Amino acid sequence: MEPPKRPSIPERQNVSSHRIPAREARSRALALIALVVPLWWCMTASPAVNGVQREDGGFHWAKVTPSPSLQYHECFDGFQCARLSVPMDYHRTDGRGRQVAIALTRLPAKVPVTDPRYGGAILINPGGPGGSGVLQALHYGRDLQTVADADTPPSLTTQASHNRYFDIIGFDPRGVNNTTPSFSCFPDPLAQKIWEIQHEADGMLGSSTDAFMRTWARIIARNTGCAATLSTAPDADSEALGEHLNTPPVARDMLSIIERHGEWREKVARQTTLPPRSHLHRDIPSANNVAQHQAMLQRTRWNRNAEKLLFWGRSYGTILGTTFATMFPDRIERVVLDAVVDAHRYYHSSGGTAIVDADAIFDQFATYCDSAGVQSCPFHVAGGSAAIKAAYYALEEGLRNASIAVAATDSRGPEVVTYSDLKTLLRVAVYQPLTVFPLLARYASEAARGDGTGLADLKIKLRGGEVDECRVSPVDNEPYASVAVLCSDAVYLQGLDEDGFAERWSELTRDSRMIGDYWAAVELDCVRWNVTPKWRAPDRVEGKTSHPLLFVNNVLDPVTPLRSAEKMSHRFQGSAVLRQDSEGHSTLAAPSFCTDSAIRKYFQTGELPPPDTLCQADLKPFLGAPEITEATMNDIRRLMRSPFAL
Ligand SMILES: *[C@@H]1O[C@H](CO)[C@@H](O)[C@H](O)[C@H]1NC(C)=O
Ligand SMILES: *[C@@H]1O[C@H](CO)[C@@H](O)[C@H](O)[C@H]1NC(C)=O
Repeated sequence: MEPPKRPSIPERQNVSSHRIPAREARSRALALIALVVPLWWCMTASPAVNGVQREDGGFHWAKVTPSPSLQYHECFDGFQCARLSVPMDYHRTDGRGRQVAIALTRLPAKVPVTDPRYGGAILINPGGPGGSGVLQALHYGRDLQTVADADTPPSLTTQASHNRYFDIIGFDPRGVNNTTPSFSCFPDPLAQKIWEIQHEADGMLGSSTDAFMRTWARIIARNTGCAATLSTAPDADSEALGEHLNTPPVARDMLSIIERHGEWREKVARQTTLPPRSHLHRDIPSANNVAQHQAMLQRTRWNRNAEKLLFWGRSYGTILGTTFATMFPDRIERVVLDAVVDAHRYYHSSGGTAIVDADAIFDQFATYCDSAGVQSCPFHVAGGSAAIKAAYYALEEGLRNASIAVAATDSRGPEVVTYSDLKTLLRVAVYQPLTVFPLLARYASEAARGDGTGLADLKIKLRGGEVDECRVSPVDNEPYASVAVLCSDAVYLQGLDEDGFAERWSELTRDSRMIGDYWAAVELDCVRWNVTPKWRAPDRVEGKTSHPLLFVNNVLDPVTPLRSAEKMSHRFQGSAVLRQDSEGHSTLAAPSFCTDSAIRKYFQTGELPPPDTLCQADLKPFLGAPEITEATMNDIRRLMRSPFAL
């Protein structure tokens, strides 16, 4: 279970009373994966395909004609979908050139756009890079809406109240999932799957003496071919997709989306007839009604070239947010950025690493395990947290020397559990301690007894689907979209040579014994991805925005340390950092009523939390942590695809 699949976490557990379970939407969206399988021999074999077609009313992205204004179609039971045409190259002035069709999914607000309580559309991004905002809206849109919306439902408040209710809009950034043109580094899904499983079997960096040599060759093989294809235009007068996938054009796409949303809102409002007429003069609208109607038209008017952004981004999504804020500082209405990436380091390598706090989270594993005791933490050993850590290091070391053989069962072939497998589980665990620490404790204790069954089963689940032509989704290019965005954002990573990399690798392992090798592989991913983006990243990511940004960060985050949030906050005048006292990647790693309330207040009123606010998390690992469900496993698996993801 290694390199191309990368960390991220499942959505926050549904523990706070105001959260709405998203399980239904989740299982629907998972089932939809089956829908896009084109292989002819699957079509009749899979009952899921027919079931899904009935359920979503026959919606297919491919059936929607892209348009330069927002035209929504009902989709996915309660959502609306559109494909927005934008120029691939915004700087091209002759109006010809290729177009990108951005896939958008809107979860409508609980009030119509004409209602005075309509708060606007919050754009979301799940991180990655390469994560699908459409999928995020389908799975988590309702949860996000519940946090941003006023806590009283609209039916219990009057139109005059100050409560606000929002649309949630997820979009697939360029190169990602349903946005077209799409790309693949492989001729077909099976070739991709075989490549990924071989990559996994090579073992991660640090797992053996030849792991580096194999990984290096593998990355060069993948990158030289894929980057060459992506930087080749279909003809002399058109654009090469690969040169237009980096973050600045995506930030510009967000500007297009909010402008088109304004246009759409005005159009919807104009189609709304006058409110009910007065009882006495049925055919003449009352003066009051006319005035109200006028006010509504005024309120919903498209502010051409002045529409403002409401945005909620996590992890890589904070790069998108701060880049947008740098490029269009006067277009900010509300921007919440959770798990904050140091944009300067990301774009320009300002020195240092992002993983300075990762080992402190592993230390917390030992501390929590120690206080939970052997009942809740099977990896518990006597002697306190130091003894637990020592036992873990010994287990790792032993696995590096010898893998565990796991015999076949009726449902699974023979497997081998390796050092890399345990290391990968640990890496996911520091991203998502609440749900994965208990798994780590269970499987590590089994492995310490020489039993690899649990890890073998997990490994197969995390692999993502079966190696079965019928179930390999051809659109799952997330790890490669991630590389395409990351490597054209961080062009300095493309030119690393073996010596330069060796130096960087040892710096990373110095900063984190636990995930240094993993992060080195992330940076290695860009070697010889020779694509030069046309629209370069800003030299400095900073600004004075029309409304202050709200940064949110865990006190301990493995890849976006609190210090990065503080640094970015210094660069954006008037912004604030809300800290959450928990471990893991993004505050979704643990539920916090306090954090949700602060975010809600910001969306509702624009008010920032008081300086130095520290929110407690409502749950700690091993202590009342929710059971891992199949859905959680699916989340972990699906979301283990990119470094700055959730
Ligand atoms: C691993 O192998 C090395 C070298 O053969 C040996 O020194 C070490 O004791 C072994 N460690 C474990 C935990 O088996
Ligand atoms: C892409 O979007 C579809 C919905 O159109 C979703 O079902 C699928 O899981 C997404 N794929 C990925 C890899 O995010």
